[in-house]
Amino acid sequence: MSVSARDGATISRLAPVKINLALHVTGQRANGYHELEMIVAFGDFGDHISVTPALHDDFTVSGYYAPFIPLNNDNLVLKARDLLRAQNPSRCLPVHIHLEKKLPIAAGIGGGSTDAAAALTALNELWQLNLPYETLLELGLQLGADVPMCLHSQQNGAPLLVRGIGEDLSPLVEFPALHILLINDGTALATPTIFKALHKRDNPSLIAPDAFQSIDEVCAYLHKTRNDLFKPAETLAPQLQSHLHELTASGADFVQMSGSGATCFAIFSTRENMLQAKQQIRQAHPDWFVVTTQTYGSH
Ligand code: C5P
Repeated sequence: MSVSARDGATISRLAPVKINLALHVTGQRANGYHELEMIVAFGDFGDHISVTPALHDDFTVSGYYAPFIPLNNDNLVLKARDLLRAQNPSRCLPVHIHLEKKLPIAAGIGGGSTDAAAALTALNELWQLNLPYETLLELGLQLGADVPMCLHSQQNGAPLLVRGIGEDLSPLVEFPALHILLINDGTALATPTIFKALHKRDNPSLIAPDAFQSIDEVCAYLHKTRNDLFKPAETLAPQLQSHLHELTASGADFVQMSGSGATCFAIFSTRENMLQAKQQIRQAHPDWFVVTTQTYGSH
């Protein structure tokens, strides 16, 4: 996969969409964070981050969802810049960071975490810090539980089995690329609110994922998994169930909500079926986020 490009002094990176194919909540730590077991895939669609040496620090945004993100230090991209700079202040000269925001906000598909991971990786390169991947993972975890898995996607997009609060990453060795349709009706769901609304935190574990030779095998496995955040998300956004029904009716082989919602996704056995469903859903809901992506497989 190629998520990085250099144009003169500018380094650009794709911040890929993160899709939780399965999400089991299996416990809770004393600090309030939840123990999770997840299957996560990354797609060839996402935000774009570019970093360029500048006379003074600057942060600009573009893209459909740009008006919805904070431009101050609440933004994870700026937190990532400042955390990295604190490692070696003399090397980290002023930088212009540009974020093209194509992923909806508070949508369960990575958003701020994937932007932070792309910024850490791009700035590590621009500032020639040569911090090893393991150090970036430690810094990433300070920014958010999803940042380590998004850092992995910057190295190698292979799908992951993720455990712990999000820091324990195991790449899946035999997993095909998937044709995925993502839909979001514009409902923003705040992750902490959804976790707080959980009724049960000690749910059964994932069945350990096997080697998967085909999309059919992946879907057969996923049918035995859950997203434990669906129920709490549904209490706040009751329309989610009908979104899943609509995706199923469009010919999908597997449907689920990603992360803490409210983005729902559908896996199709062929690209043609996926494109047909996209057209159908776009026509019915012209104001929704309706996007197709091919996820990275294990090879
Ligand atoms: O780590 P991050 O800031 O991305 O997490 C957002 C919120 O999601 C946390 O404040 C917490 O409420 C919840 N969360 C959790 N358990 C996790 C990951 C996130 O409870 N494993």
